[in-house]
Amino acid sequence: MLEAIRQRRSVRHYKPDPVPTEALKEIAEAAFSAPSACNFRPWHLIFVTDGAKREALSRVHQWAGFCAEAPVVVVVCGDPAVSEHWWIEDCCAATENAMIQAAALGLGTCWIGIRGDQQRGFTCEETVRRILDIPEGIRVLCTFSLGYPADKGSNRGPGPMENVHYEHW
Ligand SMILES: Cc1cc2nc3c(=O)[nH]c(=O)nc-3n(C[C@H](O)[C@H](O)[C@H](O)COP(=O)(O)O)c2cc1C
Repeated sequence: MLEAIRQRRSVRHYKPDPVPTEALKEIAEAAFSAPSACNFRPWHLIFVTDGAKREALSRVHQWAGFCAEAPVVVVVCGDPAVSEHWWIEDCCAATENAMIQAAALGLGTCWIGIRGDQQRGFTCEETVRRILDIPEGIRVLCTFSLGYPADKGSNRGPGPMENVHYEHW
């Protein structure tokens, strides 16, 4: 497991090779096996392979351009009507599970933040909702690109281990 976690790193350049349907199913199974508060499981996944839609998703903000190149864009949605308080945490856990499973299959991913704070002027969620006909009330946590890596990406390692505490701060 640690090997798959180590392998996962953000990939922003992809080969055009399609991702097998079986891999998409395993990624969905990994996502939907995540822990979920009260086991409410408020998540939905949309796999997008259509070129025009990926192109539109790549323009949702300035850090999403590689979605046009990745053969698949995965959209992670949550339903607050199912879990009003915990849908964000549940969908984050599902996203990470999906990305680790993708890494275990030799696939690259990169998380793209979408969830918006309308008051601060973020409208990405609305844009994604429009592109994919997502119903009103369903929230969009993030998208992530998916495909076979065209480069290795940079391995950042686990980060500062001095942030680990034992027994007390
Ligand atoms: C909530 C969140 C939002 C992110 N949004 C973007 C994004 O919009 N575009 C992007 O290229 N990377 C995005 N990333 C990826 C981070 O930049 C990346 O995980 C970080 O630089 C560490 O690199 P690593 O994933 O290779 O370990 C996001 C990651 C998280 C967790």
